Amino acid sequence: MSPRTAFFAGAIVFALGAAGLAAALLHLQGESQTATQASSVGGPFILVDQDGQAVTEADMKGKPHLVFFGFTHCPDVCPTSLYEMTQALNALGADAEKTEAFFVTVDPARDTPEAMKGYLKSFSPRIRGLTGTQEQVDGMVKAYKVYARKQPLEGGDYTMDHTAVVYLMDRNGNFVAPLNLKRSPEEVAAEIRRYI
Ligand code: NI
Repeated sequence: MSPRTAFFAGAIVFALGAAGLAAALLHLQGESQTATQASSVGGPFILVDQDGQAVTEADMKGKPHLVFFGFTHCPDVCPTSLYEMTQALNALGADAEKTEAFFVTVDPARDTPEAMKGYLKSFSPRIRGLTGTQEQVDGMVKAYKVYARKQPLEGGDYTMDHTAVVYLMDRNGNFVAPLNLKRSPEEVAAEIRRYI
């Protein structure tokens, strides 16, 4: 992929992510919110982490958590976001243990638990990589209102266009807001800390 194509793809992914999120936010605003009401983003799922351990929505509750969707072959958006998440988790210091962070693949055909494990070695050990069957991943993609679509490349290869929002979820599994990583790690950490 040329830099120009990569930039264009990134812009589309960003625009689609923003549109999807705007729709999600509008949907949230249209509902009467109570403390016990489930958010319209998130929901039940069964996936497996990079160590082969089963993970469900129950594992995400009790701590504020970040949920980010991507794929290990992503040329720029995913590694950048995972690096920024790593910096924010580092800035949290000991409080990082009171949070969880998840990287959910939208490309389970290539992102096996082993592939996720190797890839995530470059980032915070706090980040758990989630994968599963295509059907299981599709279920979580749908629950989080994520856009993800395969795009063929020359030579039979493919890339994935996908929503690049980092979801900040509270300890009850309710969607709080998209987490803005384009600021200092300390500022990002301060926002996460409010939900511990
Ligand atoms: Ni990506």
